[in-house]
Amino acid sequence: MAPLNIDPSYYVRKCIHDDLSAVMNINETCLPENYPLFFYEEILEKYPNAFLVACTRNGGKEIIVGYIMWRLERGVSEFGVKIVKKGHLVSLAVMDRVRRHGVASQLLTHGMAAIQAYGAREFVLEVRISNTPAIKLYKDIFTFEQKKVIAQYYRDSEDAFFMARQANISNL
Ligand SMILES: CC(C)(COP(=O)(O)OP(=O)(O)OC[C@H]1O[C@@H](n2cnc3c(N)ncnc32)[C@H](O)[C@@H]1OP(=O)(O)O)[C@@H](O)C(=O)NCCC(=O)NCCS
Repeated sequence: MAPLNIDPSYYVRKCIHDDLSAVMNINETCLPENYPLFFYEEILEKYPNAFLVACTRNGGKEIIVGYIMWRLERGVSEFGVKIVKKGHLVSLAVMDRVRRHGVASQLLTHGMAAIQAYGAREFVLEVRISNTPAIKLYKDIFTFEQKKVIAQYYRDSEDAFFMARQANISNL
């Protein structure tokens, strides 16, 4: 994994229910894939340690600037024939104005460790084939491999790259 260049003015903590409106606001501002409140609540209830928010402070007031959510699945390994638990990246977004400060990298680092602690042996995700920033982040920094293209994965018919990597806490 490439060295992480993290800005110390941002920190990551576990999401709590009161954060969900800020999380939904970031999601709706940054991504076309939006969800109802109960969807976030269910993920928070099932995987509370892997639902994280990135924050900063402005005059003592905490501001949420990004989030990451994971869920756990069982299935055939992307790297063999065994049945394994996989951490599936549900959603990740960082507010436009704080991008390129290592916030997503920090969320991914902590999020991967957290979903691994739930038993994940691999991490998987889908990303729009046009989303160059996210693809570079996953591939170049976090060493995800592109496994396949899923045709018309998104509601607007865009294809997705399906990416995966093996979990290895010492590599995070
Ligand atoms: C993708 C996203 C999460 C990245 O967040 P971020 O906090 O800016 O990412 P980081 O600062 O941790 O970036 C780490 C590395 O990823 C790559 N990267 C991130 N944004 C990039 C961009 N716009 N162009 C090229 N490379 C980029 C770079 O290698 C970067 O390292 P560098 O800044 O030292 O060059 C953010 O752009 C975003 O929220 N986009 C909209 C939502 C989205 O696409 N989510 C992912 C859906 S699968």
